[in-house]
Amino acid sequence: MKTKMFICLMIAATLSFSGCKKQSPEDKSAEPKAKAVSSPAQKKGDIETAGLTITVEPFGRVDDKPVNLYTLTNKNGMRVKITNYGAIVTSIETADKDGKLGDITLGYDSLDGYLEKTPYFGAIVGRYGNRIAKGKFTLDGKEYQLATNDGENHLHGGVKGYDKVVWLAEETKTEDSVGLKLIYVSKDGEEGYPGTLVVSATYSLTNEDELKIAYSAFTDKATVINLTGHSYFNLAGEGDILGHELSLVADNYTPVDETLIPTGEIKAVKGTAMDFTTAKAIGSRIGEVAGGYDHNYVLNSSDGKLALAAQLYELKSGRAMDIYTTEPGIQFYSGNFLDGSITGKGGRVYKKHSGLCLETQHFPDSPNKPKFPSVVLKPGQMYNHLTVHKFYTK
Ligand code: GLA
Repeated sequence: MKTKMFICLMIAATLSFSGCKKQSPEDKSAEPKAKAVSSPAQKKGDIETAGLTITVEPFGRVDDKPVNLYTLTNKNGMRVKITNYGAIVTSIETADKDGKLGDITLGYDSLDGYLEKTPYFGAIVGRYGNRIAKGKFTLDGKEYQLATNDGENHLHGGVKGYDKVVWLAEETKTEDSVGLKLIYVSKDGEEGYPGTLVVSATYSLTNEDELKIAYSAFTDKATVINLTGHSYFNLAGEGDILGHELSLVADNYTPVDETLIPTGEIKAVKGTAMDFTTAKAIGSRIGEVAGGYDHNYVLNSSDGKLALAAQLYELKSGRAMDIYTTEPGIQFYSGNFLDGSITGKGGRVYKKHSGLCLETQHFPDSPNKPKFPSVVLKPGQMYNHLTVHKFYTK
């Protein structure tokens, strides 16, 4: 009980979260009673500011905890839906060049889909997004064995990562955004990781059609951390992503072995099929890349300041998305493992390359690669990561 109170106080103090008491997932009174309407906030829990609204409706229950669906809308009508199960973005609706709103992410219409089978659709993955070889690493002279869930390797936090837990949620607003702050307390030993880690991820939507994700975390024991967002994008809202044009602000990438673990080498992309330094169609040279793109790119900017990382454009819809991040890497995954076995939103069957992910991150297997930027978080330190998705048409 004391520990619980301590954690709550720490969350409240460090992450300016005021919902410890009133919005605990166990607290049934936190469940919204009525279905929210998308008109401006009238109901308790709904917020409106500068043409921006956030509404809340029930989405189901997990582990006997209520799960909600939050809808963030801006003055242009752009709409983002997020659930506090897995911190999952269930949809992002943006206008195409004719002003027609469309959903540009993959996922499910209801919570059941996410509970049954999901390749991390829209979720926040952690404690360590991406792979750790054989699930092993040594920290301060001690070897740790994590859960292995991708052959012999550890992937996206293990068997029950942050994409499969219920987060605490609090609606937020600033002068120019509405948002949702999500908090998760990851226990010492969970999936094999050392240290109790208090994690916060705040999604916010602005009137400039930006979706921002601000992550922070602190720990009571040295640990490793690599949080990222796992939305699958398809700017056309249908078909495959092979015609999307992509550019990445990265002259180098980290080559991988056959289990997708980096070899440790940092290799130049220039002139190869890996080269996205100038915009090109994803499908133009994908045939030269065994299995398709599933690689970490080393961003040219590595000083921890917010910098442009990626630009994506789809000609028919005219939709474009720029990604800015403070992280040193970005995983470009071309949806290679989607194989038609998932029927998602609106009955759409997700086939190979139906969507793509651009996961801002530290490099895979960094705990075992001393030359890669460090992913170690120590007590007294704060983990911070900001990623901004800017949507527009051209
Ligand atoms: C990440 C990985 C991929 C795959 C997907 C989920 O993007 O890099 O290899 O595991 O997640 O299917």
